[in-house]
Amino acid sequence: MCGIVGYIGYKQAASFLLDGMSKLEYRGYDSAGVAVMENGRIRVDKCVGRLDALRQKLAGRMPVGTMGIGHTRWATHGRPSDRNAHPHTDPSGNFVVVHNGIIENYLSIKEELLAKGHCFLSETDTEVVAHLMADLYDGDFESTVKKVLQRIKGSYSLVFMCQMEPDKIICTKKDNPLIIGLGEGENYIASDIPAIINETRRTFIMSDGEIATVTADSVWVQDINGVPISKKVFEVSWNAEAAEKGGFEHFMLKEIYEQPKSMRDTMTGRVDAEALCIKFPELNWSPEEMAAVDRIFIVACGTAYHAGIVGKYYLEQLAKVPVEVDIASEFRYRHPLVDGNSLCIVISQSGETSDTLAALREAKRLGARTLAVTNVVGSSIARDADQVVYTYAGPEIAVASTKAYTTQLLAMLMFAIYIGRLRESLPEEKAKELVKGLTLIPEQIHQMLENVDQIKVFARKYGSCEDAFFIGRSLDYAVALEGALKLKEISYIHAEAYAAGELKHGTLALIVEGVPVIVLATQEDVYDKTVSNLQEVKAREAVVIAMGFVGDENLAKYADHVIYIPRTGKYLAPLLAVLPLQLLAYYAALTRGCDVDKPRNLAKSVTVE
Ligand code: F6R
Repeated sequence: MCGIVGYIGYKQAASFLLDGMSKLEYRGYDSAGVAVMENGRIRVDKCVGRLDALRQKLAGRMPVGTMGIGHTRWATHGRPSDRNAHPHTDPSGNFVVVHNGIIENYLSIKEELLAKGHCFLSETDTEVVAHLMADLYDGDFESTVKKVLQRIKGSYSLVFMCQMEPDKIICTKKDNPLIIGLGEGENYIASDIPAIINETRRTFIMSDGEIATVTADSVWVQDINGVPISKKVFEVSWNAEAAEKGGFEHFMLKEIYEQPKSMRDTMTGRVDAEALCIKFPELNWSPEEMAAVDRIFIVACGTAYHAGIVGKYYLEQLAKVPVEVDIASEFRYRHPLVDGNSLCIVISQSGETSDTLAALREAKRLGARTLAVTNVVGSSIARDADQVVYTYAGPEIAVASTKAYTTQLLAMLMFAIYIGRLRESLPEEKAKELVKGLTLIPEQIHQMLENVDQIKVFARKYGSCEDAFFIGRSLDYAVALEGALKLKEISYIHAEAYAAGELKHGTLALIVEGVPVIVLATQEDVYDKTVSNLQEVKAREAVVIAMGFVGDENLAKYADHVIYIPRTGKYLAPLLAVLPLQLLAYYAALTRGCDVDKPRNLAKSVTVE
């Protein structure tokens, strides 16, 4: 989840590196560094802290040179420190490397190099790779990289410079993202597209095992045996502004406000508003294949897992297929009973989450058909799955996922309707009613975002609380889980979500005077029971903020406050109900002075287990 950038061309490298790193800082931000070829020597500057710390360090003494690599780090091996920050060099300073991922066998290599007299300055696995370059150097940069790749195990994106060949950067990857941006007389390397779109839109995505030798005028891609690989260059369709804040104070708020668009984009080509049906032109499973599926596994992490829980309700109730939902880091280790009649759906915004990728591979190994629901085109998960449904949320920069979540819910609902119709378990009229409701959702979200004053007031009033509870039943419970995660991850308020009926089996003991309890009451079939649970917490003098549909006069009789959302059907309600919860988390974090886009200890893309 670290950020990587590289530049070779005719401009000053350091200025691009710093700019590019600022676009990737969300990937990891406990330290940062750059290495620039300055007058034929590799100069490394790095320090712990945010990118600003590095900028300050460089102020007045910027490295001078037209080729360089940079890195923002999220610590995995070795605490955040100046020494552990990347780039790392070998003792002579002839080789320098930046790395994203984990070198699993670094300890055994380190022992071997220690025995040969190497001294290490850091605790990182990455420094071992730089030393290994020096140890295996055979007079040729490219062939030495290949030798190193034969020795290391693990996951990585690696970018190298070598003082003896100061006209090229070499990079490679395995299970971690890396892209190349193409310019005129200059070329770029990055772990993600936002880093380069200010400079170029022409890009290609590196695949596992490929080695790219990048000069100012050329990019040569080969495999470890020297077999040339021709890459498909594509134009990035979104612009630099789409990856910037666009006038909003934070990426998170911008992304919350982008939800009407991301919903429309994700429906495009799939929702037929005239025939009121769902199509998935990208899927090429036959109805027979779909009919053969007797169990679905949904696997994901964090917010994407919460989308999976909603997806379970959709698929079971609309498509009538039994569904199990798993946290990706648990999936492999519980030995799930996956077989050739199983469909495994992995949900991942980034498409790079290590646990989710591993779960996908395990499901494939066990013979399941696999489907990725992801937001990142060409991501590892997208490439590994048999079929992909892309969510078109656009780049999500804030660590806290918002628009990716709602597009994931949408994708799951569309998929459930689609499968329900294929398997003839969902009557046509019911499907039409759902699709009609879906077409109204972007405008309903838009209306909700027009008036958020009430949420700001709640955030100010209750933002100083140290605990909060979210309760609901059925789909409301699934949304409550996401509401609680949003609040805790960015405001650091301890928040818990409970199935409303479960509260009295223990947690009710924590409900005391003044504790805010957010009660979701949008599911008609369990509405009365939810209102009873609301009264249970009210009786313990909790502050109850209830959420229901416009026109529900009942809730106001029992709750301290009511948030009204536009009326919609029960399956569509999660798409709207989560919005006030995202906003509540955002404004509560603001009230508490938290770093909304970069919450402590978290990173956007979790590419380590
Ligand atoms: C929370 C959040 C995380 C991610 C999780 C999975 O706001 O964003 O919980 O949902 O790390 O990430 P992806 O979806 O990229 O696999």
